[in-house]
Amino acid sequence: MVQLGQFPPARHVLAHISDTHLLGGGRKLYGAVDIEPPLVRALEQLHRSNLPIEAIVFTGDLADLAEPDAYARLKGIVEPAAERIGAKIVWVMGNHDERPAYSAGLFGVESTDPQDRVELVNGLRIISLDSTVPGYHHGDLVESQLEWLRGVLAEPAPDGTILALHHPPLPSPVEIMAILELQNMQRLADVVRGTDVRAILAGHLHHAMSGMFAGIPVSVAAATCYTIDPSAPAGSLLGVDGAQSVNLVHVYDDQILHSVVPVNETVAVSGFPDSVLDRLAELTHEQRIEAFSNKRSTFNLAEMESERRRRVAAPAPARPPRPPRAARDHRGVDLRVSIDGYLRHLELDRGFSPHTVRGYRTDLLDLAGFAEDTGVDDTTGLDLELLRGWRLARVHRGTREVDPRPPQRRRPRLHEVARPHR
Ligand SMILES: [Fe+2]
Repeated sequence: MVQLGQFPPARHVLAHISDTHLLGGGRKLYGAVDIEPPLVRALEQLHRSNLPIEAIVFTGDLADLAEPDAYARLKGIVEPAAERIGAKIVWVMGNHDERPAYSAGLFGVESTDPQDRVELVNGLRIISLDSTVPGYHHGDLVESQLEWLRGVLAEPAPDGTILALHHPPLPSPVEIMAILELQNMQRLADVVRGTDVRAILAGHLHHAMSGMFAGIPVSVAAATCYTIDPSAPAGSLLGVDGAQSVNLVHVYDDQILHSVVPVNETVAVSGFPDSVLDRLAELTHEQRIEAFSNKRSTFNLAEMESERRRRVAAPAPARPPRPPRAARDHRGVDLRVSIDGYLRHLELDRGFSPHTVRGYRTDLLDLAGFAEDTGVDDTTGLDLELLRGWRLARVHRGTREVDPRPPQRRRPRLHEVARPHR
């Protein structure tokens, strides 16, 4: 892989998914939200990415009511997908989960103990910390858990540690959620400060959020089931079926990136295939800057031109029937008629020389041809976008480079062309 910028490829790539809230029997959440499709779509997107994802970390609230069938369905969806991706799975307890069902369903051993585990992924340590309080929705950590964590962190991991827990050790912008926050955060801060914990992953809030805790960046992933709108009227709590997302976590030598990946269905409107990257990779750094960054580069102009061609090739939108010529006002005059009037105006009213008017005629008829190609045949369609497209096409044809006239003479003023003339 060719390094295109200042950073070598990330040393590790993880996916961070939270709050799946599955229900037994594939039931809808609140009887309304179809919760499995967004999770399936997220995993398909991760697979499609071809990224070297080493682990998928699920930060809790895996099952809404902790039903055994919900955990079975979760495994049935996630395990084959993780195998296709080539990623390990790291489960984390959430307040909607229950330890006995969670441990039995996902680890095959029923237990009421805190579900704390450690996974080493190619030198990166991922700690799954159970921040739940049985029977409650708020979070807390008991002293034995903090002691366990202190002991694990006593020995640094080769590539550092990612700490994953459900309740983020941060304030919440949604006021009422403060009641359900992680209690006694300071005790956790005392354990993790100064250790090799490089990032904290969390969930619980159902909206993406980031902050700092004990000098460590914290990233909260939204949910795949439904999300909470942090812009809802103050004091309210608003869950919505939309804006579901997961996160990608790129771990570099000196920093970690958290990228939010929406999982809603979208419509592609722009982009490049990977063959473009292959072409750029063959160039030197300077050539790449000129080819891809320079706004006037052949590459960028070609992209803009192909976009114009796409627009031309696309079927023209249906237009209302044109009124009879006599009934049109000056904003809808036939383009070539208006150009003729404008040229007469230049010659007779403004005293332009025949040579100059000929130059204008050449340019304007060229503009008219370009406009007609794009479905514009009267002055209502004359706008800056059309002019830019026309000038770009001239650059491609080489017209501009060989045109000897000064620039101000090459630029017909659209509002003057469109104005009624004798
Ligand atoms: Fe949740």
